[in-house]
Amino acid sequence: MMTEVGQGAALVLTEQRGAVAVLRLNRPPVNALAPALVQALMDALQQAQARGDVAAMVLAAEGRCFSVGADIHAFGDAGPDPHVLPCALTSSSKPIVAALHGEVLGGGLELALACQARVASADVRLGLPEITLGLIPGAGGTQRLPRLIGPEAALALMLSGQPINSADALAVGLVDAVVEEGLLDCACALALRLARNESRRTVRAPWPVMPSVKPVTRRLPEPAASAIRACVQAASDQTMDDGLALESRWFAQCLASPNSVALRHAFAAERRARQVPGVPAGSKARDVHHAAVIGAGTMGHGIAICLAEAGIQVDLIDPDPAALQRAQRAIERHHLQTQAKGRISSEQAQRRIQLVRTGESLAAAADVDLVVEAVFENMALKCQLFQQLDGLCRTGTLLASNTSSLDIDRMAQATRRPGEVLGLHFFGPAPAMRLLEIVRGAQTSGQALVDGLALARRLGKVAVVARVGPGFIGNRMVGPYGRQAERLLLEGATPTQVDRALVNFGFPMGPHTVGDMVGLDVGVRAAAEASPSADPRDGAVARRLVAEGRLGQKSGTGLYRYESGSRQALPDPAAEALIRDEARRLGINPREIDDSEIVQRCLLALINEGAALLGEGVALRAGDIDTVWLNGYGFPRWLGGPMHHADQIGLPSVLDRLALWAQACSSDEALWRPAPLLIELAHQGSNFADLDRQTP
Ligand code: 3HC
Repeated sequence: MMTEVGQGAALVLTEQRGAVAVLRLNRPPVNALAPALVQALMDALQQAQARGDVAAMVLAAEGRCFSVGADIHAFGDAGPDPHVLPCALTSSSKPIVAALHGEVLGGGLELALACQARVASADVRLGLPEITLGLIPGAGGTQRLPRLIGPEAALALMLSGQPINSADALAVGLVDAVVEEGLLDCACALALRLARNESRRTVRAPWPVMPSVKPVTRRLPEPAASAIRACVQAASDQTMDDGLALESRWFAQCLASPNSVALRHAFAAERRARQVPGVPAGSKARDVHHAAVIGAGTMGHGIAICLAEAGIQVDLIDPDPAALQRAQRAIERHHLQTQAKGRISSEQAQRRIQLVRTGESLAAAADVDLVVEAVFENMALKCQLFQQLDGLCRTGTLLASNTSSLDIDRMAQATRRPGEVLGLHFFGPAPAMRLLEIVRGAQTSGQALVDGLALARRLGKVAVVARVGPGFIGNRMVGPYGRQAERLLLEGATPTQVDRALVNFGFPMGPHTVGDMVGLDVGVRAAAEASPSADPRDGAVARRLVAEGRLGQKSGTGLYRYESGSRQALPDPAAEALIRDEARRLGINPREIDDSEIVQRCLLALINEGAALLGEGVALRAGDIDTVWLNGYGFPRWLGGPMHHADQIGLPSVLDRLALWAQACSSDEALWRPAPLLIELAHQGSNFADLDRQTP
């Protein structure tokens, strides 16, 4: 017999199996532990406790997983203390066995830890990812886990935030049994044995050590890590009650920290970015079995790798046989390296290699579900290609361009099916970078967007939808950011100083290291293709270096120099002399520049441009801009993205600082003019987060 507990939809389902009451969490999609679910489980627990015909209980879950932990969107909502439910489970007079499947994360794992035993299905993934949100486990995990599996292994799980599989969980003693099938039967049988005192957990010593997990804290300023260490120490030398009290204090402190607020914002923004007006949730995407990628350069073969990794058959097309051969070798190298790292089997590597077929003729694109063009950034070439594809491809083929800045609408107009045309802007290296900018043309259909979003998910990418506009979201903002980085060189900073300041701020790489990596000539060519700037300072350094044959890493010198075979950027007095010479030619006197000026100018430029494009509707939400910069450009995640960071500075302060720089650099007054949206929000006493809340 099945009964239901909880208001409205049944949040907990209770089923009696002989003398065992099975309580099932039932809050799709992931059984996130919102206060209402916690309360419903407390009620169900109490009812089962009170029944004379219940000797033991099993805690299980409906749906794809056991539970992913606390409801991230409900932090701050009133609810019971996080310790109440786990303590109720622990102190139950009747034994409770957790039956675990799918993801068992955070507060979900902490519920399982509070049960007397744990049985897991083979597909289970168990972890405590709180640290990735700037938090510590706050429902008893810091105390119960070290007591169960030992401090070393517990620390490894908590500091890495990474989940482990069923085999590792069994090996460290986190679960008592793993079953291929019959999870509930096994859990019920164990619960009954425990009720009859026929089975007891064996405690082992010495504690096992968790294999190779890397703390996420290597790069992050992460107070949660030291809090975790303090709590785990308390688990060894304090009572359970004192340990739980310490955990509560640290949890509250971490929850209120700016780091955690930013990390939770990043989590929510990435998921919200998938919601696009005009695209109803649950719309069905067309199947993509077979794709064509046109252009076998670095981006083209990178995209082919991504598609093959998702099991999609690919025709990689390029008229140049040498380019195809290079691409084929690079594809093979990539998959074999992935295999060598132990991430895939040799069969999987071979299968992925075989999924990509190379050829010179466009005819191979005739019958595919998706075409991604990745040819040179040249509008005439792209329009001609789209016209050919339109004549060639069957109805229903999605036609995508990987352009990083050009007008998708012009490409769409070259076809008779503009509704099927969109931008799929991958970031290089495509297999490694998580971001996919989906560019919505004026006539792109809702179905094409659904298909693009579904493809992103299938490829494991974070998708953001942008409207057409030069550089879309990410590269448009790179413009003013890079311009400041270059101006700072002309005014007296060195490439090393600019890069070091921005790395200390939290970027993995400074803009000048990136410039050398991409190739200074690439930037010079792109600037020439876009509308030229009237200011002779714009691009002056890059043009001069390129004219001297300094293209960046590939030529051994650029803004830095490189030892043969090395990618390490070394300061180069010769490059610095050329920069000073260029500054002299432009009539700029060098001066001392401190790191805080570097960071402030680059960030203000970024924020102001973000506000401008948000006001123009190129991005739908400030959170979408943050998602782009977090996943495509290495903006420090613990600061939440440029727009979240602007909210933290305070928009009136952002305006004040823009005004200060406009005054300090009068020749750049126009660059520091605040975007209208920034002025409007600041004057209303509002901010980007408020604006996003009002956006559908
Ligand atoms: N709270 C609320 N919603 C959550 C959630 C959570 N903890 N975890 C996932 N979701 C939602 C997502 O928002 C998404 O909803 P949507 O479809 O409406 O956008 C849906 O569940 C599916 O999630 P994903 O799209 O992320 O699905 P994936 O399959 O790509 O990933 C996942 C699944 C690995 C579980 C990933 O969602 C994840 O990492 N979730 C966060 C897990 C986590 O950090 N848990 C700890 C929470 S803090 C805590 O428990 C504190 C405690 O110690 C007191």
